[in-house]
Amino acid sequence: MSLNYLLVTLLSTAARSQWKLPAVSVRPCNCSARVYVYDLEPPLTDPGYGEAHNPFHRRPDTPGPWDPNEQGEHMYALTSILEYRLRRSCCRTTDPEEADLFFAPIAPRPRERASLYFELCQSGNLSAKSVRLALRHAREPWRACRHFFSLPHHYHFEQCGGWFAHPKPPYELMMRVGYLHSITPSLERRVRAEALNDHTAKRSHLWKDLSKVSSNISSTYPNLISVPYPSVHWSSGQTRAGFSPPWEREQHGLDRPVISPTMLFVGSAAHGDVAVRALVVKQCEAHPRCTVSPWRGGASLLDKQRAVFCLEPSGDSPDRKSVSDDVAMGCIPVFFSAISSGLAPWFWAAAGSAGGGYVLIEREPFLAGNVTLESELGRMPSARVAALGHAVTRVAHGFQYSIDDDPGDAVDVLLTGLHKMADAQCPHHTHQQP
Ligand SMILES: *[C@@H]1O[C@H](CO)[C@@H](O)[C@H](O)[C@H]1NC(C)=O
Ligand SMILES: *[C@@H]1O[C@H](CO)[C@@H](O)[C@H](O)[C@H]1NC(C)=O
Ligand SMILES: *[C@@H]1O[C@H](CO)[C@@H](O)[C@H](O)[C@H]1NC(C)=O
Ligand SMILES: *[C@@H]1O[C@H](CO)[C@@H](O)[C@H](O)[C@H]1NC(C)=O
Repeated sequence: MSLNYLLVTLLSTAARSQWKLPAVSVRPCNCSARVYVYDLEPPLTDPGYGEAHNPFHRRPDTPGPWDPNEQGEHMYALTSILEYRLRRSCCRTTDPEEADLFFAPIAPRPRERASLYFELCQSGNLSAKSVRLALRHAREPWRACRHFFSLPHHYHFEQCGGWFAHPKPPYELMMRVGYLHSITPSLERRVRAEALNDHTAKRSHLWKDLSKVSSNISSTYPNLISVPYPSVHWSSGQTRAGFSPPWEREQHGLDRPVISPTMLFVGSAAHGDVAVRALVVKQCEAHPRCTVSPWRGGASLLDKQRAVFCLEPSGDSPDRKSVSDDVAMGCIPVFFSAISSGLAPWFWAAAGSAGGGYVLIEREPFLAGNVTLESELGRMPSARVAALGHAVTRVAHGFQYSIDDDPGDAVDVLLTGLHKMADAQCPHHTHQQP
């Protein structure tokens, strides 16, 4: 199971040649923020990255309305995807005076093992001094606070002190984008209480999750913002050409059975929140409309496109790439951890009401047997199932990292949020009149 790899499901249309020209956008520029992208030198960047690197370079050869043949691309390619997109964006500016945001694509190469990030930080290659020298527009606080970094898992960068972790001024003003972020104090109190009450002797998992996202993290990694994992990709040209994204199930001849809804768990009980996962597997295997399946690449995506509920018990960390796959396929994610459901709030916001677009089954009552998959999902009123399904289709575009400028996609949602956050937090600055 290639958990370390991002499944890039590339979609085919008649206009195949568009894949070769992903940078060209014919839309008039509609910018959520003007972004300055730093041209960094090794070792702050990785050799082969920068202007030339294309994380979307792989293409499938099988035509179809959308193509389940996956191409392996690293699921930690967040930084290289953002760098690629922002370098080619019509929102890019090379004039710092014009910029709303500044992106420093430090260490863009996806690394398969956490230890490689630790080594990178320990090597001193990303020292506070070299970062300070490179980020030449960060000297003034009103501009420093418009800077952002993107690093998939912040806790791999604990050794990158002084600028990323435990930042010194002005780095504490900068924004950090990754898959996880600090949770609200009230959620933290709730999860701590739950962890203390956990009589299953499996509390270590909750503590582990908490240690990655608790509010103490907000002083170690200030302004940490979580984004979804990348899942499917295509170009805005394909959307304009009438291509239907996979979450529009009706367009693919698929009904969403809101009466007697189906459930799917892609994964195993061998890792992550083992207590919850084992119970999910047990109840699922005994349920007539629930399926447990190992990860099977594109075939699993097709399964998700047919399922109503996709079960997402916590994994090795509360964030799951699987959730992005669910949303892309129009499947309603079901969380068993308030931490997991609290991630990527800017992206769930499009669902409408708070909590729309996913289900949270409380971990403790589930483990105690007070609630079950059948009581919470199997017997859910059909109107509620339908409303959740529609909410998923509303958030789906915002979860997608398109290949080029695409208003409303994940990059756009991120830039909109960062721009608002910077405007709200940045020290006031008035340009001096000449
Ligand atoms: C640090 O940078 C040097 C020079 O660019 C490079 O050879 C070395 O591999 C880097 N170390 C790590 C851990 O990335
Ligand atoms: C926050 O973390 C630091 C170590 O990183 C620890 O010394 C400190 O006690 C923690 N504070 C709280 C309130 O947990
Ligand atoms: C389970 O239900 C019982 C009876 O209603 C209640 O006393 C208990 O607190 C519940 N446990 C959890 C973990 O929700
Ligand atoms: C620009 O994009 C925003 C959303 O990102 C949209 O609401 C607005 O209508 C767009 N404007 C134009 C002129 O396309």
